[in-house]
Amino acid sequence: MLGAGCKLILLLLCHQVIALEGHTEGHYVAAIYEHPSVLSPDPTVLTDRESALGLMNQNLDLYEEQIEASAKEGVQIIVFPEDGIHGFNFTRDSIYPFLDFLPPLQSGKWNPCLEPRKFRDTEVLQRLSCLAIKGQMYLVANMGTKQPCNSSDPQCPSDGRYHFNTNIVFSDNGTLVASYRKQNLYFEYAFDTPSEVDHSTFDTPFAGKFGIFTCFDILFFEPAVSLVRDYAVKHIVYPAAWMNQLPLLAGIEFQQGFAVAFNVNVLAANLHHPSFGMTGSGIHTPQKSFWYHDMESSEGRLIIAHIPKNPTGAGLLWNGTGRSDESPRQLCEKDPDAHCSEPPKWSHEMPPSFHSEMMYDNFTLVPVWEKQGSLRVCANSLCCYLDYQRHTLSSDLYALGVFDALHTVHGTYYVQACALVKCGGPHFETCGHEITHATDTFDFHLWGNFSTSFVYPLLLTSGMTLESPGQLGWEGNYYFMRKNQLSSGLVTAALYGRWYERD
Ligand SMILES: *[C@@H]1O[C@H](CO)[C@@H](O)[C@H](O)[C@H]1NC(C)=O
Ligand SMILES: *[C@@H]1O[C@H](CO)[C@@H](O)[C@H](O)[C@H]1NC(C)=O
Ligand SMILES: *[C@@H]1O[C@H](CO)[C@@H](O)[C@H](O)[C@H]1NC(C)=O
Ligand SMILES: *[C@@H]1O[C@H](CO)[C@@H](O)[C@H](O)[C@H]1NC(C)=O
Ligand SMILES: *[C@@H]1O[C@H](CO)[C@@H](O)[C@H](O)[C@H]1NC(C)=O
Ligand SMILES: *[C@@H]1O[C@H](CO)[C@@H](O)[C@H](O)[C@H]1NC(C)=O
Repeated sequence: MLGAGCKLILLLLCHQVIALEGHTEGHYVAAIYEHPSVLSPDPTVLTDRESALGLMNQNLDLYEEQIEASAKEGVQIIVFPEDGIHGFNFTRDSIYPFLDFLPPLQSGKWNPCLEPRKFRDTEVLQRLSCLAIKGQMYLVANMGTKQPCNSSDPQCPSDGRYHFNTNIVFSDNGTLVASYRKQNLYFEYAFDTPSEVDHSTFDTPFAGKFGIFTCFDILFFEPAVSLVRDYAVKHIVYPAAWMNQLPLLAGIEFQQGFAVAFNVNVLAANLHHPSFGMTGSGIHTPQKSFWYHDMESSEGRLIIAHIPKNPTGAGLLWNGTGRSDESPRQLCEKDPDAHCSEPPKWSHEMPPSFHSEMMYDNFTLVPVWEKQGSLRVCANSLCCYLDYQRHTLSSDLYALGVFDALHTVHGTYYVQACALVKCGGPHFETCGHEITHATDTFDFHLWGNFSTSFVYPLLLTSGMTLESPGQLGWEGNYYFMRKNQLSSGLVTAALYGRWYERD
């Protein structure tokens, strides 16, 4: 695994340093680490605190190597993945020795490295705090925490304690400055859901305010959307243990979609366990992404990038844009960059629609057969439209699909989606299958009459690569994405709407 392969001499090969062109002024240096964690052979077996600390320290040793490498590059903040220290698949009892006590403290009141004896059962917090000091950088890590409770609290679990899946933030001097308890647990029976949502933010001298959430949280309103809407955060730190699901929910694809939709920087760190489908991390600005996704290699990856303090892009500005009653033409006149074209002329001979399952959802689709054309497909109250031109015309089947209903497998949430996908083979029922490679490039304009303002633009190209989604926004009641000149084959172009009120 990485630890063995990544000795000092090879250190440079084990991470990539990327700088955005332009001035470092107005930028800061961020790092994320995709971590091939050392896992307990059987996480359901009961163990003691000493053995648990032994395993967790192996992971913290790997963190320490990344901190050392990052410090040399002037990194100001580093993010580590969810479950990166203790692992996953525990039971409520078997996770207990892996939990640190997290005292309910105000931000800035405790430095675990310098005040180690203030609280018991805080070994992991202490080591992380010392690592922040060592690297002189902000450090964001995920760990398990416990909080005792008793019968004076009617929600107190019968074993007399809460278990939380918690992100912890230390400042560059090792002080604990923020914590966040995961709200939307993903079948994590070892943990409790906090009774109140944490809207957790922290301030930095180098880039202002950051917001925090974890993995599955990215699909829900609380706390993800309320943080960007009501707390004015410009940067998100996002530890995850995300299992990819194509064509719409690959980790890097959705991370980028969130950054673009909300005009924020997203620092996303995933675990690296390809055998569980876990890979895909990145530093995403609304304009550009730096990512890692590798299902073949067992290596982790440290990504370092210089990114803007004030992210800008085409995404949702709360009082500026959003669903509007203005006609597309009025908006075009206001925005000279909108390249507003005449609406396409609908051919009356639409190809026949069909149904196929995509990520457990029953999509309605139409095949994309021609070299160029205009298509429409509707389901429930959502109609999706596509105006396309194919540059290379292979025999590969593509389809335009729509879904407007409650998703109910592996989580319950209401989705409104318009998706142009490459199918797995020549038959209709392969549309929605997980594929990663494509050769056909397209120019396209994709749009739909969504009932929600929350639409995430997704654009995935051949070999799990990302390209900037081009032009986006509302034209009247239609949300659109327009993209020309893809540099590699199209795997998925989608507008993934979340209609939170209908969950
Ligand atoms: C976790 O549980 C899943 C489902 O039960 C199983 O497929 C997987 O192998 C387990 N992973 C580990 C690391 O134990
Ligand atoms: C129960 O917990 C509350 C809050 O932590 C504490 O103030 C109280 O003393 C505890 N009561 C008992 C009987 O332990
Ligand atoms: C440590 O960092 C925190 C948060 O930035 C700051 O409030 C505090 O003053 C610092 N403490 C010292 C001793 O520099
Ligand atoms: C949104 O409103 C705030 C405060 O009312 C203002 O400072 C800001 O410029 C507005 N943004 C846009 C895009 O209109
Ligand atoms: C998908 O939806 C269509 C139309 O509602 C229905 O006819 C078809 O049986 C559904 N397919 C599946 C697999 O549920
Ligand atoms: C979307 O357009 C279709 C077709 O014009 C229409 O039936 C549907 O009501 C529209 N949905 C909304 C939310 O306006």
